[in-house]
Amino acid sequence: DDSDGEAEEYLFKVVIIGDSAVGKSNLLSRYARNEFNLHSKATIGVEFQTQSMDIDGKEVKAQIWDTAGQERFRAVTSAYYRGAFGALLVYDISRRGTFDNVGRWLQELNTHSDTTVAKMLVGNKCDLENIREVPVEEGKALAESEGLFFMETSALDSTNVNTAFELVIKEIY
Ligand code: GTP
Ligand code: MG
Repeated sequence: DDSDGEAEEYLFKVVIIGDSAVGKSNLLSRYARNEFNLHSKATIGVEFQTQSMDIDGKEVKAQIWDTAGQERFRAVTSAYYRGAFGALLVYDISRRGTFDNVGRWLQELNTHSDTTVAKMLVGNKCDLENIREVPVEEGKALAESEGLFFMETSALDSTNVNTAFELVIKEIY
């Protein structure tokens, strides 16, 4: 019963990480507000949004944290990861370098978080098929070898955005 409109049965923290400009902030704004910004500015520090979903009749709230991909704009790393139950590790399918850096992000995640964190590798900007640099098979293979879920998404045309977040949140739950 949620008649006072305040009681939340579950609240999970999910973090989004990955290189600058891979689309982390737009994935979050697409999921939480159905908004996309073609000219979004680089994130400075940390931002978060809370989003509710219904799982098996229970209200589950995810507090989704978004930080800067650029080192100089990042806040204290350990605080960012503390208490996280899920993580989306994002690269841009049209920029090979962002995929090459996935290993570093994964290492940072593993250093600062619990082993039980639900992790998903996300190849974003799959709408940019004509300038793709990372084949979907490569993303899949990396995810498999590292024990991550995998999905390609587009914050621009909404492909798989809700599915990706909800899969991670359901896995936590
Ligand atoms: P930092 O905050 O610097 O770490 O970057 P970010 O990962 O938050 O990237 P952001 O969401 O700001 O997006 C960077 C640029 O990519 C913006 O111009 C977005 O409009 C664009 N973008 C984000 N997602 C997509 C997508 O799915 N497809 C396309 N074509 N462009 C996207
Ligand atoms: Mg950002």
